[in-house]
Amino acid sequence: MSTEVLDSSRKILEHSIMYYQGRPVGTLAALPSSKLAAENYAECFIRDFVPSALVFLIQGRSNIVKNFLETVLTLKTSERVIAGHEIQPGVMPASFRVEVEKNGREKLVADFGERAIGRVAPVDSMMWWIILLDIYTKSTGDIELVSRPEFQRTMEQILHLCLKDSFEVSPALLVPDACSMIDRRMGIYGHPLEIQSLFYGVLKIIQNLYKEPKEYSKNNFSLLHTAKIREQALLNYVRIFYWLDLKRLNEIHRYRTEEFGLDSTNVLNIHPESIPNWVVNWLPHNSGYLVGNVSAGRMDFRFFALGNILSILFNLSTDEQSDKILNLYESKWNDLIGDMPVKIIYPAMEGLEWEIRTGSDPKNVPWSYQNGGNWPALLWTFVAAAIKSGRQDIAEHAYQTALKRLMEDNWPEYYDGHSGRLIGRRSNFRQVWTATSVILSHHFLEDPALLKLLPNS
Ligand code: GLC
Repeated sequence: MSTEVLDSSRKILEHSIMYYQGRPVGTLAALPSSKLAAENYAECFIRDFVPSALVFLIQGRSNIVKNFLETVLTLKTSERVIAGHEIQPGVMPASFRVEVEKNGREKLVADFGERAIGRVAPVDSMMWWIILLDIYTKSTGDIELVSRPEFQRTMEQILHLCLKDSFEVSPALLVPDACSMIDRRMGIYGHPLEIQSLFYGVLKIIQNLYKEPKEYSKNNFSLLHTAKIREQALLNYVRIFYWLDLKRLNEIHRYRTEEFGLDSTNVLNIHPESIPNWVVNWLPHNSGYLVGNVSAGRMDFRFFALGNILSILFNLSTDEQSDKILNLYESKWNDLIGDMPVKIIYPAMEGLEWEIRTGSDPKNVPWSYQNGGNWPALLWTFVAAAIKSGRQDIAEHAYQTALKRLMEDNWPEYYDGHSGRLIGRRSNFRQVWTATSVILSHHFLEDPALLKLLPNS
């Protein structure tokens, strides 16, 4: 079965390759069809391209990845203004497409959120771009690309953007709702874990990728130095304030509030009354996870898969924390993997909470799509994190579970229901990152040494 499924997924990847002026520059989000669930699935998304890129690198087709990195960079510099305000230099689009003009000439059109549903500018794109640049450089040994002045300048702009002064006290990055893989309103504004994990990954690898101009240090200013300090502060902050296990839950349950001064324990003034009932009964003894979001008086107790998995991959969580996250997967397999790896968020928001936090979004009804749906595109990240932590068995189990249905179901984008038994009600088909996720998981399981490609591993 495995060979047939892999052949089918490889065909999807081949047919998804997008060309610009005769050069392959990316992959479509989904194969063309008259019934695409969203118009922009015919574009190349930066985040969706990451698993495609890894597969291409493993296959020795690094030119596509190089073309992609160059193309996205030109898009970044060519489009700046949206509705009267300037998009910060460094921001990268969520997606782009190739359009043919009347005179037959091709042009690239990027989407910085001005066409996307909900009009949200992505924050994760620029981070994935740097992470992919690191992966490409490591994989090919080509240091010419990263050394080019425009690549160096772009990294500098991204660093400036992420490190610049704001009203914030916390080292975590403040972002709007819907600015990453979850690109619809889902109550994740603030300091969502997924962005913190990506940000940490970037801060870590930037030290090798970016060469600071000498004049900076002469002027007593060093972006790299600031990045280093922020990296350490973010690491400590996430490991302490985002972490939840039974011990922590007991502490929070008995927290004193309204503490003033420097030696308070409950520094963020989390009210024990905000602990949801589900978490008390759900969290097993040997497990733990990083919560979804943390800020003043707020702890979002939901479990977000990608943020937790990336924190394992990038060593943002301690080894002990990573083990406990994987224990959670093992103990709560039906909730977090079920019939189709991987549940994007647990649990789903229902009732009034769903109404208020999603704006009554019918695509994100409870246990569907981003509100508790199951996303095969996350499989490769789970497989990589499990192998990295020495849990080959659960990596294999998740992979085999995915193989059972994906080809037969025509490579859906997502699944619905508590344990992901139903094909997503509005799911798109022949979704490319669903397919590449399977190919990549297969490679990682066959040859765990490939994990070295990933940052910080
Ligand atoms: C959806 C997903 C987003 C993905 C895009 C293309 O909008 O939420 O994460 O990048 O589809 O697959």
